[in-house]
Amino acid sequence: MTRPLLLRDATLPDGRQGVDLLAVDGRIAAVGPALAAPEAAETVDAGGWMLSPPFVDAHFHLDAALSHGQPRVNASGTLLEGIALWGELKPALTEEAVAARALEYCDWAIARGLLAIRSHVDVCDDRLVAVRALLAVRERVRPHLDLQLVAFPQDGLLRAPGALANLKRALDLGVEVVGGIPHFERTASEGAESIRLLCELAAARGLPVDMHCDESDDPLSRQVEALAFHTQRLGLQGRVTGSHLTSMHSMDDYYVSKLIPLLAEAELCVVANPLVNITLQGRHDGYPKRRGMTRVPELLAAGIVVGFGHDCVLDPWYGLGSADMLEVASMGLHVAQMTSVAAQRQCYDAVTVHNARILGLPGYGLEPGCRADFVLLQARSPEEAIRLRAQRLLVVRGGTIVSRMAPARAELTLPGRPDRQAWGVDFTRQAPLRPAQANR
Ligand code: FE2
Repeated sequence: MTRPLLLRDATLPDGRQGVDLLAVDGRIAAVGPALAAPEAAETVDAGGWMLSPPFVDAHFHLDAALSHGQPRVNASGTLLEGIALWGELKPALTEEAVAARALEYCDWAIARGLLAIRSHVDVCDDRLVAVRALLAVRERVRPHLDLQLVAFPQDGLLRAPGALANLKRALDLGVEVVGGIPHFERTASEGAESIRLLCELAAARGLPVDMHCDESDDPLSRQVEALAFHTQRLGLQGRVTGSHLTSMHSMDDYYVSKLIPLLAEAELCVVANPLVNITLQGRHDGYPKRRGMTRVPELLAAGIVVGFGHDCVLDPWYGLGSADMLEVASMGLHVAQMTSVAAQRQCYDAVTVHNARILGLPGYGLEPGCRADFVLLQARSPEEAIRLRAQRLLVVRGGTIVSRMAPARAELTLPGRPDRQAWGVDFTRQAPLRPAQANR
């Protein structure tokens, strides 16, 4: 039994100020002004900073994370060289090495207030080394981080020998989401066939689906159409996610005007991966170079749940990153030009509540009865959090503080300035815009 935890004087993402939050037995017991402190409660002054539900990553590859440079770096920067590099590394993987890298990344995630991750795991390996390693990691980190695994046939369900059998073995071992990569199959029709097989498999087993889909600059890559079709045909509405969908960036507007309503009708969720797709896509273009991120504002306007994923950190596809979902939100905001305050808040939602909805996380939020998982940010609003990639002052899991970070603050000494000589700056503003003021 842990001590009750009482946070005093927080700001909430919706702008409410002076809010206290009480956590008891792993749940949020009360949220409101001037709460009474129960006996033996640990009391923490939130100092007016913003309390947020934890960050959630809806799309990641934990089996490859932190493997950058093994066996060499991706010289062309393309998706296809990344897949080839990973293919070179795969035979040398050991369960111990995969687990060690994954656990190190989970430490980074927790320190960043990222407490739930949906990770794809490559099943195109007869040994299922990465699957076994990440299943063990999932159990090991469960007290601190929710790890959800997707059976991902990286080399193609129909293109790689044994992939379907290995994918089923991974599901039998406890992997809980069905993945796919239809644009990487040998032909478009094989891609559509892989979607049919995988959706039927998911329907038969009662599992959700999350496919890499149309991660291509080819405007004729239209696999998501089949994904929406089979979702609807099999009654999987609300349980299927299309990840990447980058070809939608390059499609003509007329076709997209037909496509987006079909995705909405099938209640498909969408995950964009801004950091990785702004670097992988457009590599074959001269100028102008396409940005290659899916059409986030248009999908949101159609009522589709859109999340943002980190996708990669220090791996064959992306040699950067540090588990910072605010960096992901910032890149998504820039690439999609979502600069109004309302749109910035949608980007914040894309790394918090939208991703939680995609993962189907129970008890997510800051309401009484929710799990006592939250993060205190050195910011006073979601848009300030994105602007500053704010420090995670406290991370709380199940009512227990699991990470603390010092506030960012520089001490200036400016002898030549007559009015002041030494003071601190932390880059925050005292009075961020309220939503009513904030449409531009
Ligand atoms: Fe991915």
